[in-house]
Order: sequence, then C-alpha cells, then structure tokens
Amino acid sequence: MNNFSFYNPTKILFGEGQIAKISAEIPANARVMLAYGGGSIKKNGVYQQIHDAIGEQIVCEFEGIEANPEYETLCRAADAVTANNVDFILAAGGGSVIDGVKFIAAAAHYEGDRWDILTKGGKVVKSAVAFGSVLTLPATGSEMNSGSVVTRSEYKAKLPFGSPLVYPQFSVLDPTTTYTLPMRQVINGVIDPFTHVMEQYLTYPAGGALQDRLAEGILQTLIDIGPEAIAQPENYEVRANVMWCATMALNGLIGVGVPQDWSTHMIGHELTALYGLDHAQTLAVVLPANLRVRKADKMAKLVQFAERVWHIQEGTDAEKAEAGIAKTEEFFRNLGAGTRIEDYDLDASIIDVVIKQLEAHGMVKLGEHQDVTPEVSRNILNAALRSGNPA
Ligand code: NZQ
Ligand code: ZN
Repeated sequence: MNNFSFYNPTKILFGEGQIAKISAEIPANARVMLAYGGGSIKKNGVYQQIHDAIGEQIVCEFEGIEANPEYETLCRAADAVTANNVDFILAAGGGSVIDGVKFIAAAAHYEGDRWDILTKGGKVVKSAVAFGSVLTLPATGSEMNSGSVVTRSEYKAKLPFGSPLVYPQFSVLDPTTTYTLPMRQVINGVIDPFTHVMEQYLTYPAGGALQDRLAEGILQTLIDIGPEAIAQPENYEVRANVMWCATMALNGLIGVGVPQDWSTHMIGHELTALYGLDHAQTLAVVLPANLRVRKADKMAKLVQFAERVWHIQEGTDAEKAEAGIAKTEEFFRNLGAGTRIEDYDLDASIIDVVIKQLEAHGMVKLGEHQDVTPEVSRNILNAALRSGNPA
C-alpha cells in the first residue's frame, strides 16, 4: 500500500427530515446565498424545506445553474456573492449545482482571471466562501469531496479542479428528495458511482486489501439495488442505499494508498463538452471499451473483479476478464443506458474531434501508468463505436 494522508471534513446529515437541521450547521449571523438549478427543488418541496429551516438568513438566491455548469453563469453568481456580502452559500441540487457552488466559492475570493482556477486545476485557490449542500441527485459524490467540473461552452472545454478549500462543510442526504428524479437520472446515479469505484479499483494489485473489499462491496451493492432503484422509485431503503453508495464511491476513502486511473472520466468529459451526452452516459460508453483495450495491463484486477464481484469462476484468466467486462456492459444496458457511441446517434467521425480536444486539454498521459496516450484513447473510442466492435 502506498503512503497516504486522508482528511475529509464534510459532515453528513443523512435521512428523511434532515433538511430541518441545517440551521445548526450555519453560523447564526451568516448572510446566505441559496444556489440551485433549473427549478426541480421548487417542485419537490426541497426549496420550501430550506426556507422553513433558514429562510430569514437567505439574503439572495441564484437560480439557473445548468446541468454541466457553465463558467459564465458561475462567474455571474460569484459577482452576486460579492455584491450581497454573502459569507455562506447553500447548494441545493445534484452534482452540477454542488460543483458550481464550489467554483463560485473559490471564484468569489479570487483576484486574478477566474479561468486560471480551471486551467491550473485548483492550485491557485487560496481561499473560498464557506458552503454546504442539500443533495437531490446521488451520483457524483460531489457532496463529500473537494472536486468540481466546470464547462466553458465557447471553448468546448469541460475541466476539473480540486482544492481542500472546497469541501462542503456539511451535506444533507435525504433519500426522499430523490423520489422525483427522472428515470434517466436514476440510471446515471447508478452508473456514475459504479465507474468512480472502477477508476480507483480496476488498476493493478497494490496491497490495498481493505480498499479492494470496500470497492467490491460498493460495486456489489449497486449491482443488487440499481435495478430496484429504477423499478421502485419510492422505496426508501433502496434510495437510501443508492445515495450512500454514491457518496462512499467518491469521498476519498476507497482510493487512499492505491493507484487510480480516471481515463474513462477524462475521455468522457470531452464527449459531454462536444456532444452533450450526460456525464454517466459517457462513462457507460467509455468504461467497457477502455477495460477491453487495456485488458493485458489490467489483467490481475480484471480477474479479481470477475471472480469477486460477478462470481465468475470458470475459464482462463483472459476468459474471466472478458466475462467480467461483458457483465458490466450488460448491467449498464439492462439499466437502460446505451454503451456504444452509435447508441447516441454519433459515428466514427467524432473520434478525430475528441482526440484533438484531449490533446488541447493536455489529456495525453492518462491512466494509472500515464500510458493512455491519444493513440490509446483512439483505440478506446474505436472499440466503443458499435456493438460487437473488436477492441
Ligand atoms: O437543475 P434542476 O432543475 O435541479 O434539475 C436537475 C438536472 O436537470 C435534475 N434533478 C436533480 N435532482 C432532481 C432533479 N430532478 C428531479 N428531482 C430531483 N430530485 O437532474 C438533472 C441533472 O442534474 P446534474 O446535477 O447535472 O446531475 P449529476 O448529479 O449527475 O451531476 C453531473 C455533473 O457532475 C460532474 C459531471 O461532470 C457533471 O458536470 N461530476 C462531478 C464530480 C465531482 N464533483 O466529484 C465527479 C463526477 O465524475 C462528475 O464529473
Ligand atoms: Zn463521474
């Protein structure tokens, strides 16, 4: 196991009714901005619950943070933070709203060109406005991590940044807030955490015995309950377990002391920026192809994954590895996600464009060995093109 330091300061308030408790988490004299997306919180009662809890502290609201939050929108919100002397932001929504608020929090305190925050990956962030979140779409793990992804459409760029200064101070995880999710988002909310675990687990053996078992536990739980989350939208226990899986998949715990990949995510971000696929849809497309193309390198972990997660005991190592990948792809498809580029009305002509953008964004040495060059990414995209495509 590699050396590591682990620190996660986000307090989790989990369960039905927990929104009522947030006033105890926000300084009594704080001037609060409530930030949210396109209005789903007004339809499902979350907005009202927040007002009931801290209404008198809200000095301004910022509505309209888009899915795949836009740089320009977030800069306007950061200006509003300054103009209203806001010293606490409450994010209410999915990963996009929480990611957006992380950027707003950093940008409001940043003196230079705010685009630096993204091009420098967060290194320039020296202070940020305090914030908390009410999560309504379990998927990204943003509610308990220090990462954020922001889109700048005019550049066709979707870039991540991270900083220890942008952990939420608290996050409310009330599973009943997810009952109103459209089915597509429920599917996304299973595939994104599944892939987060795979990015931290499916590399090479590194002596992280507990990390492996935790990762396999999350994967198996998602395999068990993913279909139930779709079939039974108001099953509290199922939604509660999906929610906690999504948070645990990317709050840092399972990734300590072990190598991490993240190439599926970086290729996927380009697909979202260029063609508007949902984040999790890009993962459903890229992950199986990525595992196939890099099968030889990842063989030991692929066999472990097949045996422990999918209970595949028959066959050679190569056969087990392929069976594990096929099971994963089938799982995504059965949930209702397209796993091939052609499922999204796109064709081979996109591949050159995606590769060019990866190069433009410096995404040329990806993966746990930094050997996912543009050429390897091209092979992955080719393998992801259509059903039955050879890797
Ligand atoms: O905008 P509103 O009206 O709230 O509607 C949203 C949005 O249209 C809707 N929604 C959310 N909660 C709802 C609801 N509709 C009904 N009922 C509810 N309870 O769902 C739509 C999608 O929301 P969004 O926040 O975009 O989805 P998600 O949580 O999947 O976030 C995706 C973003 O997170 C980034 C992605 O790249 C993408 O930009 N990621 C962030 C990560 C992180 N911070 O660690 C890691 C991830 O890998 C990912 O890259
Ligand atoms: Zn993700």
